[in-house]
Formats: sequence, C-alpha cells, structure tokens
Amino acid sequence: MGGCFSKPKPVEVKVEVVLPEKEREKEEMSPNGKASPLAYKANGTTRLYHHEERPIVLNPYTNPKDMVEASVCHVKDLENGQMREVDLGCGKALLIKQNGDFYAMGHKCPHYGAPLVKGVLSKGRVRCPWHGACFNIATGDIEDFPGLDGLPKFQVKIEKERVYIRASKQALQSQRRTKVMAKCIALSNYSTAITNVLIIGAGPAGLVCAETLRQEGFSDRIVMCTSEKYLPYDRSKLSKSMDSQAEQIFLRSKEFFHTYDIEMLTETQVVGMDSKNKRVVFKDGFRMEYNKLLIATGSTPKTLKCKGKELDNVFTIRTPEDANRVVKLASSKNAVIVGASFLGMEVAAYLCEKAHSVSVVELENIPFKKFLGEKVGLAIMKMFENNRVKFYMQTEVSELREQEGKLKEVVLKSGKVLRADVCVIGIGASPTTGFLKQSGVTLDAKGYIPVNKVTSISVYTMLENLRNIHNVAALRSFSLNYLDYYY
Ligand SMILES: Cc1cc2nc3c(=O)[nH]c(=O)nc-3n(C[C@H](O)[C@H](O)[C@H](O)COP(=O)(O)OP(=O)(O)OC[C@H]3O[C@@H](n4cnc5c(N)ncnc54)[C@H](O)[C@@H]3O)c2cc1C
Ligand code: FES
Repeated sequence: MGGCFSKPKPVEVKVEVVLPEKEREKEEMSPNGKASPLAYKANGTTRLYHHEERPIVLNPYTNPKDMVEASVCHVKDLENGQMREVDLGCGKALLIKQNGDFYAMGHKCPHYGAPLVKGVLSKGRVRCPWHGACFNIATGDIEDFPGLDGLPKFQVKIEKERVYIRASKQALQSQRRTKVMAKCIALSNYSTAITNVLIIGAGPAGLVCAETLRQEGFSDRIVMCTSEKYLPYDRSKLSKSMDSQAEQIFLRSKEFFHTYDIEMLTETQVVGMDSKNKRVVFKDGFRMEYNKLLIATGSTPKTLKCKGKELDNVFTIRTPEDANRVVKLASSKNAVIVGASFLGMEVAAYLCEKAHSVSVVELENIPFKKFLGEKVGLAIMKMFENNRVKFYMQTEVSELREQEGKLKEVVLKSGKVLRADVCVIGIGASPTTGFLKQSGVTLDAKGYIPVNKVTSISVYTMLENLRNIHNVAALRSFSLNYLDYYY
C-alpha cells in the first residue's frame, strides 16, 4: 500500500450461488408456491443483488464533509508486525505495519470495546485481547467470533516518508461496521404458516445465520423462533455481570430486526418437527412449513440427580432471571457452587465480594486442569482462595437439605456439610434436541445430531448448507458442545 488514496469503488454485490437444476426450480418459488421475487441471470447460476433493494447505508468514503485526514507517524516509527493507536483529532485508529505495508482500521473491538493494540497481530489478522474475536487487517471484517460487527477500514497513504490516514469521522466515532444487508422482498400476502427459512433458536448461532443470509443477499422470508421471551442476547454475560437485565445485553436492537425483515417469534417453543414434510409444530399447536430449517437450539444445563435437586434456591444459570435471582439470594448469605467449570468459577468470582461465603465443590483436584494444566489451575485456585472462596475438591454433592422449603445445607460425599442459602450448578450441558425425537432426524445416545466437519458450525458454509443438507444418514457422529444444525 502506498502512493495515493485509492478511489472509492462503486459497490456492486454479486452473490454466486450455483444451484443444481432441480434445486433452482424450487428456489425460484416462494414457499407458498408463488413465484419468488428472487432474480436469476439468464444462465441461471448467478443471483444478482439489486442495489436498490438494499437499505440505505452510508458509505464512509463518499461524503467529503465527513472525512478527516492526518499525518500520524514516520514510516520508520513502526517495525513490521507492530501496531499503534494513532489519533486523528476526532477519533483514534489502529495503525498496523505488516510486510512493509501499512493498514488502518478501528482501534476498539466492536464486541465489548477492548483495545486492539493489546491484541495479537498474526498472518494478516488482529485477535482481540479480551475474548478472541479476529479481524482481517486488509478489510476490517470479523473472521472469528464472538462479536457480530467488523471494524471500519481507513485509507492509508505514504508521502515523503510520512504515514497519512484518511478516515470517515462517523466511522472513527462508531468504531464498528455492520455489513450491508438485504431486506425481504417476498410477497407481503404470504401465509404466516409458511416461511422460506426457519431458524429454531435465537442465540448467537441463529442470529448469525439470519444476518449472514441477509448479508449474502437472501431476500426471502426468514423467521426465527425462541422459547425465551427476549430478543437474542449475550448469554455469556450472565455469569460475568450477573445483575444484567436482558435489554442491556441484547445482541441487536428491536429496530435491527425490523430493518432487515428478520421476523422474531419469542416465547414460541418448537415441540415437534417433521423433516419429511418440512414442518414444525409449536407448543400452542400452531404449525409452520419451511423450505430450509436451521436448528440452533444450543444446550440445556445439566442438573444434579441427588435428593433435594428440585429445591427452590438451587439454580442453573441459563436466563437473566436465573442470574439476577442468584445475586439477590446470595447477597450477604452463603453460596455454594457445584462445579469449578468456567461458569462456576465466574459465578464464584462475581459473588465473592457480595456473599457472606462462597464455596466451590468439584470432582477434580484442580480447577481448569484439563484446559489450562496444573500450574495455571493451581495459580487460579490460589487467587480465588485469596478472595475468600473455599474449595472442596475431589468430592461431590450427595444431598441438598431444606428447612421450611428452602435450601439450608449442601451435604458432600466426603461427609462435610456446607451451609447454603443458594446453590448454583455448573456441571455442563447437553444438547437441546428433545423435540427432535420423532422428527426423522438421527440423534446419538447423548442427544447429539451426528454431523461431519462440513455440516458442523460454520457460518461460511451456511448458504451452501441451506441448499444441500438433506442426507443425515451419511453423516458421522461429531461431538459438539453446542449444537447448531441445518436441515
Ligand atoms: C452463564 C453462561 C456463561 C457462558 N460464558 C461463555 C463464555 O464466556 N464464552 C463462551 O464462548 N461461551 C460461553 N457460554 C456458552 C455460550 O453462551 C454458548 O456457547 C452460546 O450461547 C451458544 O449459542 P447458540 O446460539 O448455539 O445457543 P443458545 O445461546 O443456547 O441459544 C439457544 C436458543 O434456542 C432456543 N431454543 C431451544 N430449544 C428451543 C425450542 N424447542 N423451540 C424454540 N426455541 C428453542 C433458546 O430459547 C435459545 O434462544 C456461556 C453460557 C452460559 C449459560
Ligand atoms: S471485546 Fe473483543 S472479543 Fe470481546
């Protein structure tokens, strides 16, 4: 990169979708059998996304009044492989030097705002120091999750050995770039009981699928359903900021779904699926037909099997309500956490300042031993102990005892009895696939759907999969913790 700024190119988005003849015929019809408004080229292989179909999105490089340009350093100020935060007067950018070329993009991770300059630069990507999202330095695109948005990309030029950055003020302020997306242009008088794409599950997997389809120009009906009462939210926050309200951790706003015509059915649980007739049944008896289905129902926390497991103050953390109630009940009281898992330890970390006592019960001898090894596990354990967390290792719970209907004690197999006003169970999760039992979909003994590498979680293969996956029987078992699958 160097010389002068490259001229902004007009945006023309083409999505190449090569469809087998039979599939193409089907695709050209809406699920209600009417002609689909999707356009195909004469040779039938390319879906062209018409520019006028797109929502109006400001291109940061087109409004001269919005632009700022500044000299930020000398070319020799940065070594190859180095990054630096530079100030353009009205906002900062991340300047990167790799293989003699300079790149500039947003400096804050769009996920939760981590300073990317503290991240790792490797092979054309910057990895966020906090939760590992990965950004392409040439495009600013997000290439690994968590997070949904990419970074704004700024222009760089070299003049008389000085590095200049030209950037949109708006992009410098926002520090995020949402990809251009299609809207639904399907006929508005379609039956509500028929959709082209149905996504069961409104976690990050379901949401990313819907967004990716729109980003790739898919302009037919998309319906997402969730048994929860909220729009997709960041579940991982529940063990880290346990007092979060759902609205504070929404992944996208209500307006977002409205703008991109992603229909969201909340408190709508699927209780049955008929893969042969491409139909699902909801809890209230309503049936919906689909053309393509994504199962992104995630997992369900495992519970204890011992006496007292159903007591009121015993929780798994799955929803904002669970987390909020635990905080309330643990405040100045005794909390027992079963499982020194990531979830359990995060809950312990959150509660240790608020509760009177926090005890962690674990089968292994050292937390995180499998993931981080003995040394790191022991160091973490020490750190927790220094913060008043007590560990009961190599034992398990034999009974949860109550007094007047409320949890009072946790009895361990070792014989130890712990006082407990609230108990959090963090012992793993199993796939949420119960509703698929009569569906014609193969489940293994643990409830996982057998998949192969191609059909495992991959947003990149989503479009292709949405067209091709029908042959479950040919797939081999692949253990996934969190299950997302396309039909
Ligand atoms: C407390 C907690 C902390 C976590 N922390 C981290 C972390 O720090 N880092 C990390 O990488 N991961 C973390 N995880 C795991 C992470 O949240 C999951 O990997 C992620 O949410 C999986 O996303 P998903 O979209 O596959 O499923 P989920 O987020 O589980 O969403 C599943 C969706 O399916 C819906 N659903 C299920 N069954 C049905 C049905 N029959 N009908 C209709 N809808 C249905 C649910 O309502 C939900 O909307 C954490 C999880 C928890 C619970
Ligand atoms: S803040 Fe960057 S991945 Fe979370």
